[in-house]
Amino acid sequence: MAASLLKIDQLHVNVEEKEILHGIDLEINKGETHVLMGPNGAGKSTLGYALMGNPRYEVTDGAIYFNGKDITKETPAERAKDGIFLSFQNPIEVPGITLGNFIRTALEQRTGKRIRLWEFKKELKKAMEVLQMDESYAERDLNVGFSGGEKKKAEILQLLMLRPSLAILDETDSGLDVDAVRTVSRGVEEYQKDKKGALLIITHSTRILEALKVDRTHVLADGRMVASGDSSLVDEINENGFEKYTEQ
Ligand SMILES: Nc1ncnc2c1ncn2[C@@H]1O[C@H](COP(=O)(O)OP(=O)(O)OP(=O)(O)O)[C@@H](O)[C@H]1O
Ligand SMILES: [Mg+2]
Repeated sequence: MAASLLKIDQLHVNVEEKEILHGIDLEINKGETHVLMGPNGAGKSTLGYALMGNPRYEVTDGAIYFNGKDITKETPAERAKDGIFLSFQNPIEVPGITLGNFIRTALEQRTGKRIRLWEFKKELKKAMEVLQMDESYAERDLNVGFSGGEKKKAEILQLLMLRPSLAILDETDSGLDVDAVRTVSRGVEEYQKDKKGALLIITHSTRILEALKVDRTHVLADGRMVASGDSSLVDEINENGFEKYTEQ
């Protein structure tokens, strides 16, 4: 039997006193890839933030278990240490810290070990090659002045360097040109390859999924899980839209 990694049990989440998620159940096993789809405003990003422990997203009922441990009350930093990673739909700019230093610090916090600079640089160079990112980006302030696509690539670079046990990718493919989607998809594939990391991919498009093996697809509408299936559900939705899941 596959080992459970993430288990969400009847999760209710409020944003600014308003309930957005009304009792979500979801289970992801180690190494699995799940896709989360749903109309705009359904609550997909909200679920991502709640899983990461963003304090603006208040869990009012239910629980989140990670590796068998109840993490519902853990801080984002503790969850990052546990091995959860969230790639933002809109990555923020952080002046004063370079992309390279940001990743190195995050890596040291996650592992609790110092990493030799030359070793880190070697790994970083390798990952940047996969993503076809010029090395000079590592020396630039995190996301400052990065184009939309470059910010998304920087997120995948963090994914490849940090190797979390669960990565939540929130529309990492939106706003990318055809070549960049392929590059980012290759980066995600690289992460998927070692079979240690699980993925929850929030997306509106199938392009990023083409090279990836999808184990499960879920549909979220109006803060509720309304459908679940295998990878063929992605194609079904692309053909017919969400109508049948939203009209009740
Ligand atoms: N900080 C916030 N303040 C007020 N409302 C919020 C906040 N965050 C989310 N919401 C509301 O919660 C609902 C769900 O938003 P969410 O961003 O999770 O949707 P989504 O499924 O990710 O949509 P999209 O596909 O457009 O990214 C929306 O109605 C949104 O306006
Ligand atoms: Mg969203």
